[in-house]
Amino acid sequence: MSSARHVAIIMDGNGRWARQRALPRAVGHQRGVEAVRNLVRNIEPMGIDCLTLYAFSSENWKRPDDEVDDLMNLMRKFIRSDLPEFIANGVRLKIIGDWQSLASDIVQMLEDALAQTAGGNRTLAVALNYGSQQEIARAAAKAAAIGEVNEKTIAAHLDTNDLPPLDLLIRTSGEVRLSNFLLWQAAYAEMLFVETLWPDFTPAHLQAALDQFAQRERRYGGR
Ligand code: IPE
Ligand code: IPE
Ligand code: MG
Repeated sequence: MSSARHVAIIMDGNGRWARQRALPRAVGHQRGVEAVRNLVRNIEPMGIDCLTLYAFSSENWKRPDDEVDDLMNLMRKFIRSDLPEFIANGVRLKIIGDWQSLASDIVQMLEDALAQTAGGNRTLAVALNYGSQQEIARAAAKAAAIGEVNEKTIAAHLDTNDLPPLDLLIRTSGEVRLSNFLLWQAAYAEMLFVETLWPDFTPAHLQAALDQFAQRERRYGGR
């Protein structure tokens, strides 16, 4: 029995949540942000050191322009409104993925947020314009540049190099796939696929996931 230090979540199902209520997809995404806020407020008592959230994939650019705009605007709003709370609560923000190529105002806003939260003692890692295959390719290229390509040097150059090992990977909405998220880091993570749509996911759902995790026997290939 052990507790999960690093939990990652593929936050899926905002669109279906909205469709079930005949609401615009944008409302589903807004409610998704509220679910994030509510969760981040509750990770400390759950003993989680790092929560990594998949917010926008490198493949999500394939969506219609207005949906991409909605998601980017929600990101702007979220950072603006929640940054003071992160600072006050010791939440260190971290961004993984190719976020530097996002719109320049977002990049600026994120750089400020990273600097202002650097002293936090728990990490909220947000995957933005993130693709795991691209991340591994970037890390492998850096490892090659130093002339030593092996699992240690690749891991040392991943965007997640300063995060604890991934313990638990959760995907909401009933889809059972990784969609290019943390492929390397999930090598020995426990996985949990739940039916709950992301806007309905509460701290109680996360606690239930942690309880299931605590029952798992991790072997790492040993016996
Ligand atoms: C997850 O919800 C949010 C993002 C991928 C940004 P979706 O928008 O994928 O919702 P579904 O899968 O269509 O229900
Ligand atoms: C994965 O969800 C990406 C995020 C949650 C940000 P998608 O909804 O984009 O994944 P697919 O397309 O169903 O695989
Ligand atoms: Mg989806």
